[in-house]
Formats: sequence, structure tokens, C-alpha cells
Amino acid sequence: MDRCLSMNELIDALADAFKALQQGQVDMPLRTALPIPEAQANSLMMPVYMSSLNMSGVKVVNIFKNNLELGLPAIHALIMLFDGSTGQPLALLDGERITALRTGAVCGLASRYLAREDSQVVAIIGAGIQGRSLLEAMMAVRPIRKVLVIDKDLQRANLFISEMSQKYGVIFQLSDTGQLLEADIVCTATTSEKPVFDASHLTAGTHINGVGSYRPQTQEIPEQIVSQAKIVVDLKSAALKEAGDLIVPLKKGLISEERIYAELGQLVVGEKAGRSNDQEITFFKSVGLALQDLATAHLALQKAQQQDLGSEIFI
Ligand SMILES: NC(=O)c1ccc[n+]([C@@H]2O[C@H](COP(=O)([O-])OP(=O)(O)OC[C@H]3O[C@@H](n4cnc5c(N)ncnc54)[C@H](O)[C@@H]3O)[C@@H](O)[C@H]2O)c1
Repeated sequence: MDRCLSMNELIDALADAFKALQQGQVDMPLRTALPIPEAQANSLMMPVYMSSLNMSGVKVVNIFKNNLELGLPAIHALIMLFDGSTGQPLALLDGERITALRTGAVCGLASRYLAREDSQVVAIIGAGIQGRSLLEAMMAVRPIRKVLVIDKDLQRANLFISEMSQKYGVIFQLSDTGQLLEADIVCTATTSEKPVFDASHLTAGTHINGVGSYRPQTQEIPEQIVSQAKIVVDLKSAALKEAGDLIVPLKKGLISEERIYAELGQLVVGEKAGRSNDQEITFFKSVGLALQDLATAHLALQKAQQQDLGSEIFI
């Protein structure tokens, strides 16, 4: 997958996908969550049809957070692609890598509109699989020179630093949330159910990308920050169903729905402006959409065909 996809190309492909969504060329029912209570896990079914790509697809993603204790990734996923004219199967792809790539890439796209152009210091809270991809996306869209790495598990934070410092020639610093004042961009990609930093740790002008909370009761971002930030979501209907970071403060009456400033597609088509000054705190909340998977899988398939990668299977 990594041989055929570059982060910048992927961010551009997602920009096209969000534009298509805005123009009514995407049919994407809200995903179905199948709880697997015995394993404290969730299986998500994510179907989508994009007429702009003449393709439909579905991802099944299993989120088993207790897998960490078994030394296994928390996420396992497969994506199937189908021809939009005939319904014929086109490809079966590794959904784990695509999930990570598109989760980073959508934050890269949002950061193009919301992070200050001169953002040089990024904090990654949650040094896991999504955290790696978020870093890749931030490196692609802003002139990053320093990365603050924060994880409750020091071993994972150190592993992240040793891996990522081989890839990027910038400064890596093992940090705690008290050092967030230095950050221009804060990315949260944790499995936490409670806010992962204190509101007092953030400074004016910071942009936040939050991807970890995807259930109505889980939060990563302090309510005080959510209630003062310019909030952009990937899709309002999905965020209002799944994003605890917004749902909890909404239920408490700390914010109203009108405080959600825009959907990402509105920024992409120019219907709404992104950041308006150097002082505002901006918050992009993504719960992850099937269209991101389809757009990423479509690009991967195109590139694999061009480069003669992948295997043909007969079923
Ligand atoms: N929004 C999306 O599109 C999207 C896509 C994929 C995954 N996710 C979610 O993102 C989260 C991270 O996924 P992942 O695959 O990177 O998981 P991962 O297990 O690889 O990494 C999560 C990391 O967060 C750390 N962590 C947990 N609580 C913390 C805390 N309070 N403070 C600091 N670090 C903490 C863990 O130690 C771990 O290193 C999960 O909740 C997952 O469901 C969201």
C-alpha cells in the first residue's frame, strides 16, 4: 500500500471526495455498529456509493481495544470495492492500512484550511497507528520542525520516536501535556474515554485534530476547549451520532449545534472560510467516513494497476 500511495496525492483525492459529497454525488448511510460485548469490542459496517468514481464499497472494521494486551493491533479491517455499473467485485484491500492513511489524510486536508500556515510544532497525543499517520499528514501540509510525543505508555512513545525519527529529519521530544503550550497543532489519537489534556495547556492559535473519540460517551478534548473553539466536522450527522467530544458538551448545554461551524466539504468547496485569524483555536473532529475509505481504496487500486502491484485472485 505504501509503495503506491503518497500522502499529498491522498489528501488531494480526499479533497475531491469531500467535494463530491458536497455536490450530492455520494450516497453514504450512517455506519452500523455491531457491539461484541464479550470482547468489549465493536464491529463497524461502512457502505458507500460514489457516482463520481462509478464505484461502491464497504469496509468492515473491527475495533478490539483489548487486543493491545495481547500484543495485537486494536483495529482489523477489510475493504471490498465494486464496479458502479455492473456490481462486479473489483478489489479486496487491507482496511487497516487504508484506515490509518485516510484518518491521517483527512486531518491533513482539514489542517490545510485550519492550521496556521507557519505551524512548526506538532504534538501527537496517542503514539499508535493513527498517530503515525497523523504525523505523516502534518509533515505533508505544514513546515513541521519539532514533534512532541505524548502517550500514557512510555514504551509506546519511545518506540514511536525511534521509528519516526528515522523517517523524518526533525526534532522529536518525549513530552507530557504540560508542554502543549509550545504546540501549533495538537493531534489526539488515543483510545482514552476521558479528555487527554487540560484546557489550560493550550495556547491561542492552536489547531486540534481529534480522531480518537468515536462513541457518544467518549471524549479526548476538554469541554472548555470545545466550547470556545471554531469546530469543523467531517459530517455533521455522523458527528452528532458518534462524537462524544461534541455530544457530551451538547447534552450538558455547554454548546449548541450551531457552534459546529462547518463540515469539511464546505471548506473544500469554498462555501465557508477556514481559519480567520492567528488567535482562534480551531478543532477538527473526525469520526471517519466510508467515503474516505472508498477514495483511498480507489486511488490505491489505480496506482497498483499502473505499477503492476497486488495479486489477482479467482473466486
Ligand atoms: N476518526 C477516525 O477516523 C478513526 C480511525 C481509526 C481509529 N480511530 C480511533 O483512534 C484511536 C486510536 O487508534 P489507533 O489505531 O492509533 O490505536 P493504538 O492502540 O495503535 O494507539 C492508541 C494509543 O493511545 C494511547 N493512549 C490511550 N489513552 C491515552 C491517554 N489518556 N493519554 C495518552 N495516550 C493514551 C495508547 O497508549 C496507545 O499508544 C482509537 O480510539 C480508534 O478507535 C479513529
